[in-house]
Amino acid sequence: MMKAKITLAREFKIGEIDKRIYGSFIEHLGRAVYGGIYEPGHITADEDGFRRDVIELVNELNVPIVRYPGGNFVSGYNWEDGVGAVENRPKRLDLAWGTTEPNTFGTNEFMKWCQKANTECMMAVNLGTRGADEARNLVEYMNHKGGSAWADLRKSHGFEKPWDVKLWCLGNEMDGRWQMCAKTAVDYGKLANETSKMMKWTDDRIETVLCGSSSRSSPTFGEWEAQSLDIAYDSVDYVSLHQYYDNKTDDTPSFLAKTLELEEFIYTVICVCDYIKAKRRSPKTINLSFDEWNVWYHSDFAPFERWSCAPPRLEDIYNFEDALMIGSMIITILRHCDRIKIACLAQLVNVIAPIFTQTGGGIFKQTIYYPFEHMSNFGRGVALNPIITCDKYDCKEFTDVPYIESIATFDEENETLTLFAVNKSLDEGQELTVNMLDFDGYKPFEFISMDGYGIKDENSFECEKVKPHTNELPVIDGGVMTANLKPFSWNVIRLQKIFSKNS
Ligand code: AHR
Repeated sequence: MMKAKITLAREFKIGEIDKRIYGSFIEHLGRAVYGGIYEPGHITADEDGFRRDVIELVNELNVPIVRYPGGNFVSGYNWEDGVGAVENRPKRLDLAWGTTEPNTFGTNEFMKWCQKANTECMMAVNLGTRGADEARNLVEYMNHKGGSAWADLRKSHGFEKPWDVKLWCLGNEMDGRWQMCAKTAVDYGKLANETSKMMKWTDDRIETVLCGSSSRSSPTFGEWEAQSLDIAYDSVDYVSLHQYYDNKTDDTPSFLAKTLELEEFIYTVICVCDYIKAKRRSPKTINLSFDEWNVWYHSDFAPFERWSCAPPRLEDIYNFEDALMIGSMIITILRHCDRIKIACLAQLVNVIAPIFTQTGGGIFKQTIYYPFEHMSNFGRGVALNPIITCDKYDCKEFTDVPYIESIATFDEENETLTLFAVNKSLDEGQELTVNMLDFDGYKPFEFISMDGYGIKDENSFECEKVKPHTNELPVIDGGVMTANLKPFSWNVIRLQKIFSKNS
């Protein structure tokens, strides 16, 4: 067994955790909408056709915002096609995913779904085939109280009250050659700047997100952010990051080590934002919206029928090592919660998602569901940077990879402290001692873990094999807690103040 040590103190505060860091994403793609969140006729469907079984799991996940309607889809989307009487809505070819969009589900349906799922919408506008005019019209349609053409159109569609959407994405991955009407950084920067200006003139309460590069490996990464942000700095609030990881080489140690790269990616984007801030001598700080992140590769070559409606696409079935990777990724994201205010696990249902349904059938929780659920429910308050001493490993792609990935969160109001930790060692446990410097009276009351599974074990409709279980509570003595972390495991240790120091 290896030995590891963590030191925790209230002073090691990274920042307040913005609840929107536990967001997710629904795109008109595959069976995310049709057969996912929306399936009239399904045995669990409500009067609006929303699957109640899906809403139940979304509620359990406690997702505060959901990005919509894309993704690549949004770059060819006419939002007007998806509002008004359903029988008048056109079917359109979706060039992003090679399918037919029936438009029987659109913006108002999504907003109603958000209300029922207890979440908020992060809306994306089309800056591919369309532009500033359609975007500001959509803000007027969604947020203006009435007395103007677009707001009155919404009312005539049966929605008297404005939806008041606060957060808006200025397009999607506009640097990507796969994107409809992809752009250069300068062209995009100008369009995003003008669009954001007009959207905010329509409703000055909104915030906007500038598209960063589509990933760290994008050829224009770095320069794209700098050029577009320099143009749009005064009119936007966030820059987006997107990153998916895979284990195509079947090299688990390297796969789990990719959080080192993720760390570097986040840090670099922060530096670029602050470089532009310095260059412009601006008092304004641009924060980060990590609005697409996940593991994605299992379904890469799955065939589908071109131009069919809602065929299965991107239906990754996740395994145990993916769950550990998701836990490690969200820990890494949280380590930067002073600058990352929004993050979206991409996506929510069926399409590279923690929730998986059968059209006309059942539902199950994927392996990755659980670390996200734990973080979203227990990882609130402030994030504390744990000082970690542990062994490190070398692998094909990286050197000096710490075996332990960890973060702590402290919810002062409820006097709860939670330690999240991944042990990346395939075969050795860790005797972890946690030195809690100023948490007098805090005692562990729950120790949840996922361990003991084969690295490729998956869940299915028949058997939810990979799931968390509780363990014997760690021992605590004189402010030092000792816990045994199993080999290759996800761990959540929850502590609460049991007595007050002066009592
Ligand atoms: O989430 C799937 C796709 O990944 C999104 O449509 C796109 O933005 C990204 O490339």
